[in-house]
Formats: sequence, C-alpha cells, structure tokens
Amino acid sequence: MAIEFKHVSYTYQAGTPFEQQALDDISVKIKDGSFTALVGHTGSGKSTFIQHLNGLLKPTAGEIQINDQLITPQTKNKELDDLRHQVGILFQFSENQLFEETVLKDIAFAPKNFGKSESEAEELARTKAKLVGIDDQLLERSPFELSGGQMRRVALAGILAMEPQILVLDEPLIGLDPVGKRETMRIFKQLHENEKMTILIVTHNMDDVADYADQVIALERGKLIAAQSKQEFFSDPQWLYQHHLGLPRAAEFAVQLMQKGTQWDGLPLNVDELARQLVTKLK
Ligand SMILES: Nc1ncnc2c1ncn2[C@@H]1O[C@H](COP(=O)(O)OP(=O)(O)OP(=O)(O)O)[C@@H](O)[C@H]1O
Ligand SMILES: [Mg+2]
Repeated sequence: MAIEFKHVSYTYQAGTPFEQQALDDISVKIKDGSFTALVGHTGSGKSTFIQHLNGLLKPTAGEIQINDQLITPQTKNKELDDLRHQVGILFQFSENQLFEETVLKDIAFAPKNFGKSESEAEELARTKAKLVGIDDQLLERSPFELSGGQMRRVALAGILAMEPQILVLDEPLIGLDPVGKRETMRIFKQLHENEKMTILIVTHNMDDVADYADQVIALERGKLIAAQSKQEFFSDPQWLYQHHLGLPRAAEFAVQLMQKGTQWDGLPLNVDELARQLVTKLK
C-alpha cells in the first residue's frame, strides 16, 4: 500500500477566530502505481490534502501512512527527510519557484542539497531535463528567459531529479496553451507508464480525468465523497450533476443522446469510445 489516510482532519489556524477546517475525517487509500485524479470544487481541500503527502502539513487528527513512514500530529519535520525524497510535489504555478542562474543549476539544486556530488547532481539534471523535453541548448540559459510552458517543465525536472516514486501535481495545466497542455499530460503519462511512478493529479478537467486517470478521489467541503475507479466514478451522471462535478465532453454528449433514446454499452468517456460505439450502432 503506497498511501493511506486514516481519519485525517486538518484545521487551519486552529484555536483562533479564523479557524477553518479544510479536511474532515478523510480515510482513503492510493495504490502503488496508480494514476489518480483528485477533483472537487474550489476550496474543497485538494491543495490541503496534497500538502500532507510530504509532511508540509501534518494532520490535526488522524494519521497518514506513506510506504514505511507514518505521519501523525506529533511527527517532527526531521523525521520526514526520507519522505521528501519519495514524494515530489509540483505546486500550482511552479514556474514561480525557479530561482537559480541557469536551468541546469535549478534542476540540480535539490539533489545537490540532498547530498549528491556536484557532478552526480548535474548528470541527474541532464537526464531529467531530457525526460521532460528540455533541449540541451537551454541548460545554460537563465530559466527566466524561457516560455511559461518550458519553465514549468524545468520545475518538473527539478522534482524528478530527486527521483521520487510518487509524483503529485497540483493543477499543473493552468495557464498553458492547448499544445502545452497536451505535451505536459503526455509527459505525465510517460512517467507513469515508463518510469512506473504513482501519480496524483489535481484537476478540474473531466476530459483529462477520463483520458489519463485510472482512479478518482473527490472532495466536497473537506469531506471525501468518492474514491473509486474512473469507470465507477463516471457511471452515475445524476450523482455527478448533484455534486456539480460534471462529465467529460464525450460523456455529456452521450447523455444527451441517451435522453433521446440512444442506449450505450457503458457510457463512452472519450471521443474514441463514443465514435466506436456510434459506428457499431450505424452498421
Ligand atoms: N493558509 C490558509 N489559512 C486559512 N485557511 C486556508 C488556508 N489555505 C486554505 N484555507 C482554506 O481551507 C479550505 C480548503 O482550501 P484548499 O486550498 O485546500 O482548497 P482547494 O480544493 O485546493 O481549492 P482550489 O481549487 O481553489 O485550489 C478553504 O476553505 C480555504 O479557504
Ligand atoms: Mg488548490
């Protein structure tokens, strides 16, 4: 079992008039090797949830097991060094976190900080830059000369240079153009398939959930309302509408046809599946 939340609650500014409970008694498991989408409205607790995965936040109540590491309200930061290698988090607008003089130095920063020699760290940085599609010729440039999409890839390479087993992405596509989005999702898919990384992605885009994830976790006002396979999650459009979660576009279209009498052999979640089923019906 890679990750398990056991009755986790988190309250910001506990004991003050500004107290805000952001997670409420969450119990959920995330399997090793899965590609999980974390969905929910703004303010539902998604970013709070993921900050528990490397101990940036510790639960106010309950505990979290990540591989061999147990995190409780009492866990000290110095006990979490190993965990911070194992779980890499790409935060929202991660390009704002770049700061070194060159792209290469930026990517090599974390491994160097965690005890790799200068040459080992640079070697790792070159490998990871290649993996995310950053050309060699960009490595000596300042990260601030790059495009937004390239900067985000540099930030991702910096996280991969720590060689984490679990990669957590907080709305990584926001602000990218359509090509940048597709390219970035392709990189995550490759990391999942080729590098066997466990991936947890926060997204509002149900098409991306349908196209890439295998599991879905949904939060609503700090409570867990779903943790299931993608197929199960999308199997009840009424429930999704009730929770204002929406459907992938192809499924939305299929539901409209269903209301006009079309029957589906399982609701199509993407255009390929929609086309396949329509063609079968037309034959
Ligand atoms: N630093 C903070 N101090 C106090 N309250 C906070 C803090 N960060 C978040 N909150 C509150 O906790 C709740 C959950 O916020 P969180 O950022 O985890 O939601 P989210 O699902 O990531 O939202 P979004 O989709 O907008 O990114 C919200 O009510 C938010 O206002
Ligand atoms: Mg958030």
